[in-house]
Amino acid sequence: MKANESHVKGISNICIRGYWATYGETHRKDWIERVISEFYNHERILSEVTESNRDWGGYFVAVENGEVIGAAGGGMIDEEVGELFVIYIDPARRNEGIGSKLLDAVTKQQKLEYRAKEQWVSVQKGNMKGIPFYEAKGLIFKYEKAPKENPMYIKLRHSRKI
Ligand SMILES: CC(C)(COP(=O)(O)OP(=O)(O)OC[C@H]1O[C@@H](n2cnc3c(N)ncnc32)[C@H](O)[C@@H]1OP(=O)(O)O)[C@@H](O)C(=O)NCCC(=O)NCCS
Repeated sequence: MKANESHVKGISNICIRGYWATYGETHRKDWIERVISEFYNHERILSEVTESNRDWGGYFVAVENGEVIGAAGGGMIDEEVGELFVIYIDPARRNEGIGSKLLDAVTKQQKLEYRAKEQWVSVQKGNMKGIPFYEAKGLIFKYEKAPKENPMYIKLRHSRKI
C-alpha cells in the first residue's frame, strides 16, 4: 500500500536495519552512518511520504499486524524511464515474495501514472542480497558506474522494459 504519515517510523526502522544488514560487512561504518542520517531520518521520510510527484512517487509499504516489514519507492528519471530508488525488507522476512509485491507496486505506478516503458535500478557491486533479486525480476546488467563522491563503492546499473 501507499505509505502515509503513520508509517514514517516503520519505514525508517526497516531502511536502517536493512542498510546495516546489506552493507555492514562491506562498507565503512562512518559511511553507513552518514547515509543513514542523511536519507533515513524522520523529517526526510515524513516529507517523502507526504509529497509525491513524478520525480519521487512516494513510499510503498508492506504492513503486517500494524508493523512495516518492507518499504520501496521510485521515480521517473527521463520521459519514459522510471527508476527504483530504494527497496528494503525486514532481514528476517526475505524470500517470501514481499520484495516482489513492492517492486510490482512501484512498477505499476511508473507504468500507469507516468507512462514509463523502461525501468532502471542501481545496486552496489557485490551486493548478493540485491543482485539475484533484480536478476530474478528480469533486470539485466547494463554497465558499472563509480560514483564521484565515493569511487570505491562501484554501482551496477540494471534495466528492463516494463
Ligand atoms: C532485495 C530484496 C528487497 C528482495 O525482497 P524479497 O522479499 O526477499 O524477494 P522475493 O521473495 O520477492 O524474491 C523474488 C525472487 O528473487 C529471488 N531472490 C531474492 N533474493 C535472492 C537471493 N539473495 N539469492 C537468490 N535469489 C534471490 C527469489 O528466489 C525469487 O525468485 P523467483 O521469483 O524466481 O521465485 C530483499 O532481499 C532485501 O531487502 N535485501 C537487502 C536489501 C537490498 O539489497 N536492497 C537493494 C538495495 S539496491
